[in-house]
Formats: sequence, C-alpha cells, structure tokens
Amino acid sequence: MQQEQGQSGGKPAGSGWIRWVGGDDGRLELLDQTKLPSETVMLRLEDLEAVRAAIRRLSVRGAPAIGVAAAFGLWLGIRGAPSSPSDFATALEAAKGRLASARPTAANPVWALERVEAAMAGHASVADKKAAAFKAAVEILQDDIDTCQKMADVGVSLIRNGERILTYCNTGGLAAAGIGTALAVVFEARRRGLNIEVVSCETRPLLQGARLTMWELMQARVPATLICDNTAATVMKLKKVDRVLVGADRIARNGDFANKIGTYGVALLAKAHGIPFHVVAPRSTFDLSLESGNGIPIEEREASEITDIGGKAVAPAGARVFAPAFDVTPAELVTSIVTEAGMISPVNESAVVNVVRRQPE
Ligand code: MRU
Repeated sequence: MQQEQGQSGGKPAGSGWIRWVGGDDGRLELLDQTKLPSETVMLRLEDLEAVRAAIRRLSVRGAPAIGVAAAFGLWLGIRGAPSSPSDFATALEAAKGRLASARPTAANPVWALERVEAAMAGHASVADKKAAAFKAAVEILQDDIDTCQKMADVGVSLIRNGERILTYCNTGGLAAAGIGTALAVVFEARRRGLNIEVVSCETRPLLQGARLTMWELMQARVPATLICDNTAATVMKLKKVDRVLVGADRIARNGDFANKIGTYGVALLAKAHGIPFHVVAPRSTFDLSLESGNGIPIEEREASEITDIGGKAVAPAGARVFAPAFDVTPAELVTSIVTEAGMISPVNESAVVNVVRRQPE
C-alpha cells in the first residue's frame, strides 16, 4: 500500500475518491477517510488484503463505496490466480470469503461479489473468466455513478425551498463512486437552486457526520450546521428540522433497514415530532432474502472506538463496552425509501419488491 498526499480541491463530478487507475494490471486508489478532515491522502491498493484492510478500518466506507472496493478487491485477488480451473475456483472462493467478511452488515459488497461472479459464469476458460471479472468491476463503478444521480433525481422531488434537512453519518461522494445517496439529494436540490440547509449529526463513535459530512458540505458550499447526536431532539422540538434524509447498509423485504448506529433513535425522534423520515439507497442495498430487519447481521467494532477519541482514552482502562456499528430501524418509522428505480411509499413488502424488481425502462 502506498500513500500520496492529495490536494483538497473537491471531488470531480461523479467520481474520484474511489477510482481504478490503469488497465487490468492497474490499481485501486481511494481517499483515506480515516485521515479526514485534516489530511487528504490517496491510498494505492494493489492486492486483495490491502483492500480488505482498507474496508475494515474504514479508510473506505459507506455501503456503495465498499461494494465498489469489494469488486476491485476480488479482481486483485484473482488476477494472478492459477490457470487450472480447480485452483482458480479455490482462489475465487477464498477471495470472496475475505471480502464478504470485512464488513458484514452492508449488502452492497456481497451484491458486487455476486455480480462479478455472475459475469464470469458464462465463460469456460480461466482467461476469459478473468477478463469478464475485470470488466464487471469497472461496470460496477460506472453504474454507481449513474445510480447516485438517478437517486438524486428521484429524491429531489421531496425537497421544498427553504427546508432544513437533518442527516446522519456520511452519505455523500465519500460513501459512493458517484455523488452519494442521501446527500446526493441535497446536492441535486442545491444544483437546482433550492435554498436549503443541512443539520449534520456528528455520529459517534467515529464521527462520520462531523469529519466527513461537514467536510463534503462545506466543500460544496451547502449551508450546514453540526450538532452533537444528543442535540437532535432539541433541534426537532425547536422546529429547526423539516425532513430527515439518511442512507442504508441493508434493507430487508419489509422495509426495515440497518444504518449507522443511532439512526433508529433519530427515526423515533422524527416520528415523535411529526417530521418526515426518508431513506435513500440503491437497489444493491436491498436484501430480499430477509423477511425483516431481525435477520440483518450487525457488525460489532473494537472497544477502543468507544473508549478512545483521537487516540486519547475517554473511559477508564478496562471499561466494558458494547459497540454495534449499526442498528435496525423498523419500516413503520420510514416515510419513504428513494431508489434509482423510483420511490417506495408507503413502505411495505409489496412496494419494496415491486420497485427492487422493476425492469429498466
Ligand atoms: O460505518 P460506516 O461509516 O461505513 O457506515 C456508513 C453508513 O451508515 C451510511 O449511512 C450507509 O453506508 C449509507 S451510505 C451511502
């Protein structure tokens, strides 16, 4: 893995913070999000384990972005694999397992791995399978750019001039190859001239809202106010929030969804204050095999993510910790789910299945 000091010049339209450089012998480059907002450092990743480690430590994070990273991670894991079909199959299974286990809650990495594998399935020779895998990874990245813009175009119909939108975690261009999910709607509304503001929850423990969302919004000159997570109830009570927009890591068939720990609390607060609560997510985030959110695997993180802030202990040594990275919000708290194929509202199983299975026009 190599590092390169970057310029803080903003994200190129629709791509840039995660990119493939070169041909099939090239490398994956991504912005190390653990260093933001103080440094912009691009990582160069040239093997599967480097990609897995970057996903695991959240150098790359956000469901669509880790889907793209997993697709290229798979390519890096198999490009040098033996040409005998059985050895290749063994290497492929091992590579998939390493990438799928890196962050188990998000649906997108497994979706991406399955898409790459499906692209290989129609080819007999290992050489042709490899060519198909690389092509599929490139397509996954390009499709994500289009998908983000389509979600923005669907979601912008919700937004009224003058609104204040509360958001949680980070769902912008750092979390995707394109312009993001929930924040993509904000960027599109601003691009269309709507005078809106964002309230960003800091998002403990790793502060994606403070470090990443505020960084993106300020770069894009979107008026934004940072609050502690425990200020959300107050801003809602003071009528300083008109709408909540969040992303998702996995959405079950009934519309229950997993997102960054704390999202469930925000949804309950929105319900209590009569504020519409929307999820913005691509269809690659849905897991129709799950009847409800009860089946979503929830990743647990290191205790140090709670006990330390910026490398400094804020709890006594040995404090017992519970550190789930995600929680599940029940569908009944969700006003609508915005996808690239249309809006799901009201949120129920038949509406979810209908939109997720919708054929492109
Ligand atoms: O742990 P993270 O930072 O990967 O969590 C990310 C989120 O919870 C996002 O809201 C989610 O991936 C939706 S993103 C575009």
